This record gives sequence, structure tokens and C-alpha cells, in this order.
Amino acid sequence: MPAVDKLFVGSIPEIYDTYMVPLIFEAYASDIARRVADAAPTRVLETAAGTGVVARALAPLLAPNASYIVSDLNQPMLDRAAARQGADKRIVWQQADALRLPFDPESFDAVACQFGAMFFPDRIAGYREALRVLKRHGRFIFNVWDRIEENDFARIVTDAARAIFPDDPPRFLSRTPHGYHDVALIEADLRASGFTTVDIITLQHQSSAADAHTAALAYCHGTPLRSEIEARDPKALNTVTDRATDAILEAYGEGPVSGNIQAHIIVARA
Ligand SMILES: C[S@@+](CC[C@H](N)C(=O)[O-])C[C@H]1O[C@@H](n2cnc3c(N)ncnc32)[C@H](O)[C@@H]1O
Repeated sequence: MPAVDKLFVGSIPEIYDTYMVPLIFEAYASDIARRVADAAPTRVLETAAGTGVVARALAPLLAPNASYIVSDLNQPMLDRAAARQGADKRIVWQQADALRLPFDPESFDAVACQFGAMFFPDRIAGYREALRVLKRHGRFIFNVWDRIEENDFARIVTDAARAIFPDDPPRFLSRTPHGYHDVALIEADLRASGFTTVDIITLQHQSSAADAHTAALAYCHGTPLRSEIEARDPKALNTVTDRATDAILEAYGEGPVSGNIQAHIIVARA
């Protein structure tokens, strides 16, 4: 995975939070928050928390005496998350690499990670870290996107980028966010890292935006796809965004647009 794939910095955190989060992340955040809260955990760690969409859904469901560490590799994502969350003494915001967690063994009842595992350069090492910091009977609850063919706007945007750069297409979306969807591989990686019980379900939602341009803007400007396009041609970002807008317009028409999104939800125990 190129280093740029995990760089959520510069203008990306704000655009990601404004456009990508409502488009595709909020629905799954409610789901994962409910699954984490179901077992009434008192010590919770979230990794790859981004701009805090899960924290906003999960904090209200945790007990008054709970503690909740919200972490991410990229400090600018966490800064945005902290700025959006109301004052909450139970929450600690902490920069951390999910592959080198700065926490003692057996510290948490639950580790949550929404759409982060695809970015781990070594997934087995990342899962081993989650297992190390979990208490006995603790649960690792995470999700990953299904294949890009099941995720309408991501597929259309990737096709549009390919049309602009046919010889060297920007493949961020298919390579990383949608590059780890094989449930047999996910289960094998979890077992190789020491988890013994693995439950996986596949969940489809609708992804809605005010119009085609908003959906195209979210993917092209609010993710590391932006850096990949700009590396090929600093002036091409708007060209790709316009091409993606036209393609979404062609498929869904004027006004509000709504496409399928699909992800796997995984609950693993030692
Ligand atoms: C697609 S975003 C998901 C963010 C958030 N969970 C959400 O649902 O909006 C992926 C996140 O993974 C973070 N990330 C990438 N590599 C990481 C690592 N090794 N450890 C922790 N976070 C990482 C990125 O900074 C980014 O915030």
C-alpha cells in the first residue's frame, strides 16, 4: 500500500467529515456503536476513529462510569473529531497507530474499529495488537467495505478517474478501502492472530447525497484519492470531479442521488 493511502491530512479531514461521513459512514457508525454498547463495556478503545463519527454515536450509549479512548494515526482527523464532540470527561483523544498501541495488555472490554483495518499494512499484526489489549472475553468489533462492485458511487468515481488517466489509473478506492473484502481471508487473518470466535455478517445500506456533484466531491476531494489524482496532474482534481459528477448524473439523474453501499461487520473474541 502506498504511504499516501493512509494520509488523511491537509484539507481532507474537513471535507471527509463534511461530505464523506454523512454519505457512507454514519449508517455503519450507528450499527457498530450499538454492537459495542450491547455488552455494556466500561473500558472501550476505538482505533482508526477518523473524525469521530462512531464516537458521536457510541458515547451516548456508554455508562456514566465508562472510559473511552478514541485514537487515530492522523492527529488532524482526531482534532476534527474532538472539536465536534461535546465535553465528555469519559473520552480521551489519543494519537495511536493501531499496529503499535500504547496500552497495557488486557486493558479493554471492547476494541472498535470502523473502516480502518483495510489501512493496516499488516492486518495480522494489527489484530494481534487488538487482542493483546483486550481483556479475557473482550470483543474486537470492526467493519470493512465489501468489493467495489457492491458500492455504487465508489465504483463510478473510480471509473471516471480511469477515463481521465487511462494509462495510470488512480486506484486508491479499489486498492485500499475496497481491497480487503474476502471474508474467508478476514477470518483466517483473525484466527492467525489468536482470535478463536469470529462472526461476520454483510450489511447493505443506501448512500444518499443532495446531488451528483456532492457525491463526486466527497470521494474526489475528501479522501486520499485526491492526493493520488494531484500527483498525476495538480490541475486534474476538478476534471476528475466533473467527470464523476457527469457519470453519477447519467446513472441517477438530477437532484438527490442514492446508491448501494455494502460492508462486512466482524465480531471477534479470543
Ligand atoms: C476511512 S477512515 C475511517 C475513519 C472513521 N473510523 C470513520 O468511520 O469515519 C480510515 C482511518 O484510518 C486511519 N488510519 C490509517 N492507518 C492507521 C493505523 N495504522 N492506525 C490507526 N489509524 C489508521 C486514518 O487516519 C483514517 O482516519
